[in-house]
Amino acid sequence: MFTTAQALTLLPLLASFVPSALALDATAMRSKSVYQLVTDRFARNSSVTTTCNAADRKYCGGTWSAVAGQLDYIKGMGFDTIWISPVVDNIGGSTGEGEAYHGYWTLDTNSLNSNFGTADDLKALSTALHNKGMYLMVDVVVNHVAATSSADFAPSAAYGPFSAQDDFHPFCWITDYTNQTQVEECWLGDSAVALPDLNTESATVKQFWNTWITQLVSNYTLDAVRIDTVKHISQSFWPDFVNAAGVFNQGEVLNGDATYVGPYQNTAKVNPFNYPIYYPLVRAFNGTNQNLTELTAMVSTVKSSFNDPTLLGSFLNNHDNPRFESAVSDTSLIKNAHTYPLVSDGIPYVYYGSEAGFKGGNDPDNREPLWTTSYDTSSDMYKFFASLNAARAAAGAASSSFYTNQATVSTLSSTALLVNKSPLISVLSTTGSSASDASVTIPSSSSGWAKGTKVIDAVSCNELTTDDSGNLAVTVSKGLPVVLIESSKKGGVCANGTTSSTGSGSGSSSKSAGEKTASGMGLVMAGVLSAAVFGVQALI
Ligand SMILES: *[C@@H]1O[C@H](CO)[C@@H](O)[C@H](O)[C@H]1NC(C)=O
Ligand SMILES: *[C@@H]1O[C@H](CO)[C@@H](O)[C@H](O)[C@H]1NC(C)=O
Ligand SMILES: *[C@@H]1O[C@H](CO)[C@@H](O)[C@H](O)[C@H]1NC(C)=O
Ligand SMILES: *[C@@H]1O[C@H](CO)[C@@H](O)[C@H](O)[C@H]1NC(C)=O
Ligand SMILES: *[C@@H]1O[C@H](CO)[C@@H](O)[C@H](O)[C@H]1NC(C)=O
Ligand SMILES: *[C@@H]1O[C@H](CO)[C@@H](O)[C@H](O)[C@H]1NC(C)=O
Repeated sequence: MFTTAQALTLLPLLASFVPSALALDATAMRSKSVYQLVTDRFARNSSVTTTCNAADRKYCGGTWSAVAGQLDYIKGMGFDTIWISPVVDNIGGSTGEGEAYHGYWTLDTNSLNSNFGTADDLKALSTALHNKGMYLMVDVVVNHVAATSSADFAPSAAYGPFSAQDDFHPFCWITDYTNQTQVEECWLGDSAVALPDLNTESATVKQFWNTWITQLVSNYTLDAVRIDTVKHISQSFWPDFVNAAGVFNQGEVLNGDATYVGPYQNTAKVNPFNYPIYYPLVRAFNGTNQNLTELTAMVSTVKSSFNDPTLLGSFLNNHDNPRFESAVSDTSLIKNAHTYPLVSDGIPYVYYGSEAGFKGGNDPDNREPLWTTSYDTSSDMYKFFASLNAARAAAGAASSSFYTNQATVSTLSSTALLVNKSPLISVLSTTGSSASDASVTIPSSSSGWAKGTKVIDAVSCNELTTDDSGNLAVTVSKGLPVVLIESSKKGGVCANGTTSSTGSGSGSSSKSAGEKTASGMGLVMAGVLSAAVFGVQALI
């Protein structure tokens, strides 16, 4: 309907129609790829130069304004959504466990944490994201507030809305995690920092939180929320809360047992992070030639335990666990493990610093400052995540059911995993980077590929061709992951022009620079046009 030249002249006009809010529901969230950052550690004003030692557990100066200044760094890897630390006012000063730089020690939920900026700064971050076609997910803590000691704690006006004794469950530490009553009603924390447990059965407390989350989403035009400590509140609390949020939620149910976590999605309407897969995923790649059976078995268990495994949060690293890289140094094992969340079921989450090779272990070591890297976009891992996001986006663009169909995960050999999430088909290996080349075959019966089908590996950019039976011989080189999509559906995969052909098929020459520019522009225009259509609908 437009020539490119005509469309280009419309760009400024269309841009003015891009809506300020495109809140994400479950359908919209499926195609998103999330970058999780710790606000205090991701970016700070360049005028601040104090040394940041993660081990000190102190504020290092990160702010919402500084995050807004680094969005292109995140977008350059293909992430379109950021999850930031909790935003509300936290207890001040130092405790036996340092300062509240992570944002999880709520004081007054009606005020913002001034260390991270002002309300206008947070609104500006939200706007800056939306202007780039990106989305904002904010972390919320509903289960508890914080106090420097359980003995000292008394409800007071300092806790904003929660100033009455009845707003809290009576003090007791959680001592038995197999006792769900204790998990829900007793307190987290310890003698250095206690986390007074809110009485989320109280109608007053429930009503407050439901109104609060509606307002938080509205005031800062949030697109999604991440919910902390979900299993510490009774399941009956959640449906009204997530309904009041009105946007997609991803919740922390920190437990590896799928039958324990499942009901939080099936009944409580929270979409949990996939901890049941996390543990076997780490074990599968935590060394060369590990047993892959635990992981494939868990994929089946997850399918039978959750109403919709494709809405779980898929991750390898986060702020609560030692980085995978703290135990594993083999770069191929690291790449294989990071590939899984992006090529299998669920919304992928990548923790900041994974692209920079950070290897911090347990909290607080896994919350390193990122500014020390100068936001290097040339690193191997930075480009690796860009390749994986491009592959995932291409698969989603090629097939409307890519995000909703459940992957089939099986073994091709004792060291090779086949993750079939058509049209994206990946081979993950446990042999490590010093292994000699290994050959595996992806049968046509599994891929559905016909004879002579050209497919491209988003990681190596090699092009392969299926044989006369439609089977594909894949050479696993240096233990690297192989992420395949039919060449005709490759979208932005290997768009930098490095495509080379290998194997028996005839080679394909890479496109001329002119063709690449034209097709790239087509994608940009499609994005702008559809955003403009959404904008008009929103205005109506
Ligand atoms: C950084 O700090 C300076 C001086 O306080 C201020 O003028 C500037 O706006 C700040 N920049 C950002 C991105 O916050
Ligand atoms: C679970 O914990 C609650 C609260 O501490 C306690 O009253 C109850 O007896 C415990 N149940 C079991 C089976 O231990
Ligand atoms: C949202 O903004 C309104 C109006 O400024 C304010 O009264 C309310 O406390 C805010 N709520 C939250 C959660 O930010
Ligand atoms: C991974 O291996 C390291 C030793 O290399 C071990 O300390 C750690 O517990 C292992 N992690 C898991 C989840 O198995
Ligand atoms: C892998 O683990 C499964 C069960 O976890 C076990 O049945 C199987 O024998 C193991 N395979 C090898 C090669 O050790
Ligand atoms: C092109 O992308 C591939 C795959 O990410 C990467 O291996 C290669 O280094 C890139 N080439 C350039 C010139 O950036």
